[in-house]
Amino acid sequence: MTPEPAPPAAAKQPATEKAPPPTRVLSGIQPTGRFHWGNYFGAIRQYIELQTAGEAYYFIADLHALTTVREPARLRSLVHAAAVDLVALGLDPARATLFVQSDVPEVTELTWLLMTVCPMGLLERCHAYKDKKSRGLAADAGLFTYPVLMSADILAYDATVVPVGEDQVQHIEVCRDLAGTFNHLYGEVFTLPKPRLVESGARVPGTDGQKMSKSYENTIDVFEDLAAQKKKIMRITTDSRPLEEPKNPDDDHLFALYALVAPEADRLRMAELYRRGGFGYGEVKKALVEAAANFFAAARGRRAELEADPARIEAILADGAARARRQAGAVLARAKAACGLSRGVAAAAPRRPA
Ligand code: TYM
Repeated sequence: MTPEPAPPAAAKQPATEKAPPPTRVLSGIQPTGRFHWGNYFGAIRQYIELQTAGEAYYFIADLHALTTVREPARLRSLVHAAAVDLVALGLDPARATLFVQSDVPEVTELTWLLMTVCPMGLLERCHAYKDKKSRGLAADAGLFTYPVLMSADILAYDATVVPVGEDQVQHIEVCRDLAGTFNHLYGEVFTLPKPRLVESGARVPGTDGQKMSKSYENTIDVFEDLAAQKKKIMRITTDSRPLEEPKNPDDDHLFALYALVAPEADRLRMAELYRRGGFGYGEVKKALVEAAANFFAAARGRRAELEADPARIEAILADGAARARRQAGAVLARAKAACGLSRGVAAAAPRRPA
């Protein structure tokens, strides 16, 4: 499967050719803590860029988060904070539909329909479940069937483009598999989505060089306190090659992090310094601290304003849920009619948009 390139502007089709479904962007993000740079550069930055590319739906995946967050008050506050952070980072509720996953119960019903066409072996191969098992952690059925819920999330909105980081591509393949099987059995019900990755952020490294992830405790968070962020950056692991030795910027995770937040000219200058040698990693870390603070400064300001107005965020989420339910309801009705769950409405159920 080829990841989707940037979606084209609505191209005119010759009258004889079947037009592709309209671009509909969808993605979800878990509210399991503060967003880190992996979330931002891998996914959120794309959400914002794509909110003008067609219809866009973005949601906070609280049902998925239930597999890890077990404190109700904390989950509630994480969901609210996630919405604040997304809007502060540039998600515009006037352009995109922003909602909370559990506010759309149609998706959990659709999950069951997909579960009935999902082979166990497909889920056994999924890495989120495999990773947890291999680390000796208890995995529940929620974690095991996580990709089925994720598939329903995507299919419920007839999404065509799903902006994500590399770690989610396998789940989108599962989604395509399930949609294909269902369509094969019951007719053209679901639209097959494609993942969309950005080269510069598909796999953001953490402070230790592995993929940035909360489970590896190697994150740099978008909105963390600047003093704490500075400490983390100054502790980023580096190799012990001598100062004067020329180095390749392209295989250094410290440089990769710097490249994400530094203005173009500074990035090129730093790459040159690497190639020449004669610099210390401490210098790069200091430059990274400064570039990171500048890069997110405006979003920090917006976030402070939004935090002071919780009712505004809740109104955005309520409006988003109403819009999302309308769409998911139509797809669910179509799927139920197709597989024989609705009596008397089969003929009336709308077909998938051509
Ligand atoms: P989640 O919450 O773990 O991550 C949210 C997004 O951030 C991306 N990401 C990264 N990208 C690049 N480098 C990294 N180090 C990095 N770490 C995280 C993820 O790829 C993701 O795009 N299952 C999903 C949430 C979800 C979803 C969906 C996504 C639920 N339903 C439907 C798309 C469509 C997840 O746990 O993402």
